[in-house]
Amino acid sequence: MTVDLVIRDALIVTPQARRHGGVAVDNGRIVAIGRTDAMPPARRVIDAGGRPLIPGALDVHVHVREPGFSHKETWATATAAAAVGGITTVLDMPNTNPPTETAARVREKIAIAAPQALVDFGVYGNVGEGNVSELRAMAEAGASAFKLYLGSDNPLVPCPNDGAVLDAFAEIRATGLRCTVHAENTPILRWRGDRLKAAGRHDLAAHLEQHADIAAVEAVSRVALLAEWTGCKVHIAHENCRHALPIIARAKRRGIDLTAETCPHYLLLSMADAERAGGNALRVKPPVREPGHAGPLWDALRDGTIDVIATDHAPHPAAEKRQQSIWDVSPGFPGLDISMRLMLTEVARGRLTLERYVMAACEAPARAFGLYPRKGALLVGADADLVILDLERRAPIRGADFGSMGKVTPLEGLETVGAAALTLLRGTLVAEDGRIAATGGIGRPWNTGR
Ligand code: NCD
Ligand code: ZN
Ligand code: ZN
Repeated sequence: MTVDLVIRDALIVTPQARRHGGVAVDNGRIVAIGRTDAMPPARRVIDAGGRPLIPGALDVHVHVREPGFSHKETWATATAAAAVGGITTVLDMPNTNPPTETAARVREKIAIAAPQALVDFGVYGNVGEGNVSELRAMAEAGASAFKLYLGSDNPLVPCPNDGAVLDAFAEIRATGLRCTVHAENTPILRWRGDRLKAAGRHDLAAHLEQHADIAAVEAVSRVALLAEWTGCKVHIAHENCRHALPIIARAKRRGIDLTAETCPHYLLLSMADAERAGGNALRVKPPVREPGHAGPLWDALRDGTIDVIATDHAPHPAAEKRQQSIWDVSPGFPGLDISMRLMLTEVARGRLTLERYVMAACEAPARAFGLYPRKGALLVGADADLVILDLERRAPIRGADFGSMGKVTPLEGLETVGAAALTLLRGTLVAEDGRIAATGGIGRPWNTGR
């Protein structure tokens, strides 16, 4: 039998092991893995030249921005950034305009995304006080997961009261989907924010002071408690606080189905880097904290307390990032283009094994969101979402070169070692050496609800 594609002479890296060999692909799926000389004949052969081959990464925390904010990002540009960055599946956040809060909005968003997408995708349904009875219909309409903004002053996605959250968790449990939570205590943020503004504070440190550690600790504890009570699967978004880590570990020990993510900016930056990182442009929710959090976050990532690396890709136009008052700065920055480069650089430094990176970027998110082993796995039968790495490639981070429309990054100028050289989506080359090699529409919606 002649297959569509064989990748030969690769270093096949999974969370469990690494070995030299080849992978055969037919009809978009992996059909064989083994010694290169045991691979079937193929219509196309890619010689990996001994370089590592890993599953395409998943990013379960992406703000694509459409509908409503096409001036910040589009499905075409976000998924181009993902493809270049070695990410072959993205899960899109619901804080668009309109927000993704009904079954019709879920279908609408999938229809907007599908013709543009360069990688596979899922969409989050938002959890609010007004749509608890709609959550099951959203799952049936194709929502891949739910998002709960527990710490939010965004009127598009306001923080629901705990009674609504309790009912929502019971409904979500029935769908079998996971609920990702932005876990901060809204009244604490609001009270402190008002106090700091009344005191005339407009500096970056005031944003950090607003987001006190206890606001995260309290919300993570509450989420774990409500998850245990209801049986709802939860995922703690963008964990940045060392004091929340023991609570996450304890929840796991109690058998609660709780997973957690952190993001490269929390692992690599602290307030001590603020000046180099662009001053006010470093504003992100939750904040990059004072020194002392990254070390415990790295430990938690190595020991599995933190399961997942995600980006919280949150692009904004440069003008929205450069504001005099911190309260006027749009929070967040792009991450899809560079997350893999940043993490591979830390692998090169010996901070993380490549195997552990593959677990946190590929297998763990696929498992958490019900996509494993179709995604996130180098196994026969899995989608042939494949990335060949160039571990030697050195380059500085340049926001201007991003596929994302968000060009302002706090990591501007940082030298990285290692990058995705080739990204394949279901056996088709979508990006090579930083350039897009396919046309939009190749990406497909991923619906774990049915
Ligand atoms: C997010 C955004 O811009 O949509 N910003 C951020 O700082 N992370 C909102 C959010 O996820 O809280
Ligand atoms: Zn958030
Ligand atoms: Zn976010």
